[in-house]
Amino acid sequence: MTAPAIRAMKGGEPIVCLTAYDAVTGALADQANVDLILVGDSVGNAVLGYETTVPVTLDEMTHHVRAVRRSVQHALLVADMPLGSYGSTVGQAVDSAVALAKAGAEAVKLEGSFLEEIAAIQKVGIPVMGHVGMTPQSVNLFGGFKVQGKDAHAEHVMASAREVSEAGVFALVLELIPMSLAKLITDAVATPTIGIGAGPHCDGQVQVFHDLVGLTPHRFRHAKRYAESWDILGRAIADYVSETRTRAFPTDEHAS
Ligand code: KIV
Repeated sequence: MTAPAIRAMKGGEPIVCLTAYDAVTGALADQANVDLILVGDSVGNAVLGYETTVPVTLDEMTHHVRAVRRSVQHALLVADMPLGSYGSTVGQAVDSAVALAKAGAEAVKLEGSFLEEIAAIQKVGIPVMGHVGMTPQSVNLFGGFKVQGKDAHAEHVMASAREVSEAGVFALVLELIPMSLAKLITDAVATPTIGIGAGPHCDGQVQVFHDLVGLTPHRFRHAKRYAESWDILGRAIADYVSETRTRAFPTDEHAS
């Protein structure tokens, strides 16, 4: 899968995107034939125990990109640029994107209308994915993980989507916006839209691995749990603890 191939899927079969953070989750997503694997800065909440994506560093991202790279062979591998790795100078953004590409990412994603940065990163040969609506790196500015683009604010999100699309991104994430607005944006821009909490009218969907497989005690309206892994793994570990304490494990068959 390539960035131009994703772009060409606009208006066709829905694009399937899933996050992954290590070689195991990367292999599972790749084997399931998703189109695009995102090493999201959601690694902060999903894996590293942070409350938000704000603390995630570029070093943490490159570490996780390298791990996912080792197991992904088919899907397009996209890496999030974390807060603080862009937004200062255009050169800083290019350097950060190059670091992620050297770690194995085939494209990068950044949040918001950083049009000069998007152009400069693409100029050095790295495809860029955009992200508008609820952009989690700005959670403190928004005052929480709140739906964006309601009522009068819709025009602002539409304007961001248009300008980011026109800057040449190959795909555009629409996060936590009303589905009517997601449809308007999807119809208005030439770029495929990839929704999360943005309804069924986008050109594709993205989900966080841990939300999808239920590997978190938290439940989110925007996510469908296709498995209850938290409970399943919890029971497995509890069985191990109990069997070890009662000497039911190990038995002769586990001995050398
Ligand atoms: O970090 C992430 O996982 C993301 C997706 C939710 C789009 O940005």
